[in-house]
Amino acid sequence: MKLTATELQQLNHKLENAEPDTILKEITEIFGENIAFASSLGFEDQIITHYISKYVPVIRIFTLDTGRLFPETYDLIDRTKARYKVNIEIFFPDRVETEKMVNHFGINLFYESIENRKLCCKVRKTQSLKRALSGLDAWVTGLRREQSVTRMDMQIVEFDEVNQLYKINPLLNWTEENVMTFVQENNIPYNILHDTGFPSIGCQPCTRAITEGEDIRAGRWWWELPDQKECGLHK
Ligand code: ADX
Ligand code: SF4
Repeated sequence: MKLTATELQQLNHKLENAEPDTILKEITEIFGENIAFASSLGFEDQIITHYISKYVPVIRIFTLDTGRLFPETYDLIDRTKARYKVNIEIFFPDRVETEKMVNHFGINLFYESIENRKLCCKVRKTQSLKRALSGLDAWVTGLRREQSVTRMDMQIVEFDEVNQLYKINPLLNWTEENVMTFVQENNIPYNILHDTGFPSIGCQPCTRAITEGEDIRAGRWWWELPDQKECGLHK
């Protein structure tokens, strides 16, 4: 199902202030049930898993295991599956590509240059994402506009030109306060690292704790400039 530019605009207008369950139900009506949610197990993703399990369990959930995640993130995968009785499908990076990369550039290549960092994200994340998305009609993410300069112009429903399917961002307009209140009020299981200064969590070598007053994504690829801090999942 491909929407015209006008239809897409009208849909976004309609969903701009809608609750995530309304957005998720609406998209299954428009695009069908061949939809999956990409979860990195962050606060936002846990909220979406909560909504999916409650209102639209037909949407599948997957995570990209880069092989470099925190042990606390792996624990959370199991805790989330147990709490919500959902399956979280795990995608690994291609073995041949990963071995070629680390044997050529080193196991911690990402600190050497932006090119190396992008290569690692490509091999360990975006190539697995391509595999996870193949054959789907839409995918769901936990992105929020407020998170970064690179996310301010996004829409709730957009066509992902890179991966050639629709991309749905149900929490796009949520503030950090909205997220934290929802997590507390609904007792959402979350990564215990969040309690020790990690508001945004990715791979272990590329995430550090932040200090009071720092931007919430300051601990991600902290050695790079803010406008370069995207791993390629969201071009
Ligand atoms: S990143 O681009 O900087 O890594 P971020 O951690 O903010 O992204 O997550 C934004 C959204 O991208 C998440 O809500 C999730 O939908 C998706 N995402 C990020 N990392 C993963 C992952 N490892 N597996 C699945 N989805 C992911
Ligand atoms: Fe590699 Fe770091 Fe990207 Fe993870 S975040 S895939 S370790 S460069």
